[in-house]
Amino acid sequence: MSTRTVIITGGASGVGRALVEHCLADGMTVVTCDIDEPALKELARRHQGRPLDTHLCDVAVRDACEELMDRVLAEHPDVDGLVNNAGLYLGRPVWEYDDATIERVIAVNVKGPVWLSRRFAGHLLPRERRGAIVNLTSVAGEVGSSDALYGTVKAGVIGLTKSNAMNFAPYVRVNAVSPGLVVNTAIADRIPDYRYAEYKRQEQLDGDILPEDVARVCAYLLGDGSGTMTGAVLRADNGCYPR
Ligand SMILES: NC(=O)c1ccc[n+]([C@@H]2O[C@H](COP(=O)([O-])OP(=O)(O)OC[C@H]3O[C@@H](n4cnc5c(N)ncnc54)[C@H](O)[C@@H]3O)[C@@H](O)[C@H]2O)c1
Repeated sequence: MSTRTVIITGGASGVGRALVEHCLADGMTVVTCDIDEPALKELARRHQGRPLDTHLCDVAVRDACEELMDRVLAEHPDVDGLVNNAGLYLGRPVWEYDDATIERVIAVNVKGPVWLSRRFAGHLLPRERRGAIVNLTSVAGEVGSSDALYGTVKAGVIGLTKSNAMNFAPYVRVNAVSPGLVVNTAIADRIPDYRYAEYKRQEQLDGDILPEDVARVCAYLLGDGSGTMTGAVLRADNGCYPR
């Protein structure tokens, strides 16, 4: 059965916001969290009166994730979808990272999805209820990145996806979306110019990849149409870096 109530992390902008709006248009109830309070308030204002709950929550902080899940599971016990979309890309070579920043990149991109996924599946599995998790990885996690930390964590997201697909079977499907260069996002603005040009050169299809394009692939993985898929990585990349 297609997802009816979904949690989307990092929903205040970029791919997350496009997915929030796609899911609302599809008639779902949406819970989203972000660290960007003004953008979150603007999202809530724009969709006032619709089934959208917004929460200020830093997915890199374990207690904040636990608190968010406490509230969501109390207020929306029928929740059946989770999209681990919030991500942090700094676009710098590995020798420019200090230890605190390394920890932050790992926490946002990997630890948050670990904490949220196990609470989500821990709610559904004992009740023998079906659900779907979608994780956002990147072409960078498959072919490498000029930012080694980002390449590392996004490869980790693929490992988490395949492994949680095993852990959470047979009730919770776990799949990933692997975008290429998604324009109109803060992350695209941080990609070094030479890498931006390389990505564009590698794309086999014309036109830019928009947040809405990635949102549609995420929505497919939440829905009935992908009901036989778990542990899969689907691309949204205009055919760049075939793999
Ligand atoms: N933009 C791209 O080119 C691209 C390419 C491949 C993969 N991705 C992945 O897609 C996902 C979405 O990226 P995007 O381009 O929309 O990024 P974005 O920076 O435009 O949006 C990310 C959102 O997540 C929020 N966020 C960041 N850290 C957070 C935290 N600790 N807790 C809660 N919210 C947090 C931000 O405030 C922002 O609203 C990310 O996982 C990213 O790594 C993006």
